[in-house]
Amino acid sequence: MTDKPANTMWGGRFAMSPAEIMQEINASIGFDKQLAPQDIRGSKAHAVMLAEAGIIAKTDAREIAKGLDKIKAEIDAGTFEFSRALEDVHMNVENRLKELIGPAAGRLHTARSRNDQVATDFRLFVRDAIDGIDAALETVQQALAEKAEAHAATVMPGFTHLQPAQPVTFGHHLLAYVEMIGRDRGRFADARKRLNESPLGSAALAGTSFPINREMTAEALGFDRPMANSLDGVSDRDFALETLAAATIAAVHFSRLAEEIVIWMTPQFGFVKLSDRFTTGSSIMPQKRNPDAAELARAKVGRIASAFQGLVIVMKGLPLAYSKDMQEDKETTFDALSSLRLVMAAMAGMIADLEPNAEAMRAAAGRGYSTATDLADWLVRELKMPFREAHHVTGAIVKAAETKGVDLDQLSLTDMQAVEPRITKAVFSVLSVENSVKSRTSYGGTAPQNVAKMARQWLRRLEKARAKV
Ligand code: ARG
Repeated sequence: MTDKPANTMWGGRFAMSPAEIMQEINASIGFDKQLAPQDIRGSKAHAVMLAEAGIIAKTDAREIAKGLDKIKAEIDAGTFEFSRALEDVHMNVENRLKELIGPAAGRLHTARSRNDQVATDFRLFVRDAIDGIDAALETVQQALAEKAEAHAATVMPGFTHLQPAQPVTFGHHLLAYVEMIGRDRGRFADARKRLNESPLGSAALAGTSFPINREMTAEALGFDRPMANSLDGVSDRDFALETLAAATIAAVHFSRLAEEIVIWMTPQFGFVKLSDRFTTGSSIMPQKRNPDAAELARAKVGRIASAFQGLVIVMKGLPLAYSKDMQEDKETTFDALSSLRLVMAAMAGMIADLEPNAEAMRAAAGRGYSTATDLADWLVRELKMPFREAHHVTGAIVKAAETKGVDLDQLSLTDMQAVEPRITKAVFSVLSVENSVKSRTSYGGTAPQNVAKMARQWLRRLEKARAKV
């Protein structure tokens, strides 16, 4: 069978071009074209270094740089024609470079392999993504902290098991997410630190005999140092795994807040309102206002977590060094990171948009005997009862209230004294939800003054960090 000559980039010993299905399963250009900006950055740094080290002529390096700039402009303008026959972004760019500048293009790949090239590109891409994610996480924190400050004293029920537990403030609840997101940012920052070493110069797997300067390319690309082992340089994707793990955890956090917004928005709860900007109507039920943005933010964790798992499974048991399996690292990572970006933007928008219904929250906060712990604590404090006994006595008082069909603070003193004769009318001071939250002054507790202070602290911290950059 004669056929068109094989891929000109590697086809020296190949007489036939690949089977149709081979091309189809092999080509990554459909998704790795997203790496074009990073690929060009990497190639430019490599070419400068090659010339500086005397490996290629300075004139060739200049031609290469000019050609690469032109290609970047074509890609930005959307006029670049990506070809599947050229497999991937690396060969597409190099082939175009040859069209533009001729034989000098062929010198770019000296002392380099697609293996260290793709490892470099992908690291740069993930690093760029982390920087974008960090900024977006900060925006969400800002929106949450602002709402929290405004609602430091807005009382709502706190839940465990989604059963009314103890009153908290809405601001306190929102600040819980500010803390979670703070740790998310820490995870991304940690991943970034470990990621930030340059694989470039690892070549195919063993390094190269050319006198390259790996420090120079590392520095040019903003890496802290070159990776110390060439096999490791081309074959690990732990940086993507770490980033996806951080993304998964962040997405889990957002899914919880999204779920709460969904619950709070039901007419049964009626805790918050989202405007028309973040809700949709139903095509059949005219009364509906659906929290689609929150539902989708809740659901995206599915894609993000599966990207993490998917890459774990791709990498598991892979022998060193590079295997083509690793081409499967990109598509789902791109999707996961852009999904997270969507989630963060939607969440920031919803948080700023949502208006709590303080009345409804306040009323719900008082239901379900939510100040029973306050009563038990009072018995401990005032009557010096052991907590276990106070718990028991309070249980009996709750039962009495339940039988009468009233809330705790509506039960008469006589009814309480029937359970524990030493109770005085002073007990009523701890049974209101306002006093309950006010009393929770322990560090990290829900007392409005704590919450206001914490919210202000966060806002200041966020502002300071912004001023630094
Ligand atoms: N498209 C490839 C990938 O994403 C680039 C590296 C190819 N290396 C090779 N030895 N075939 O992994």
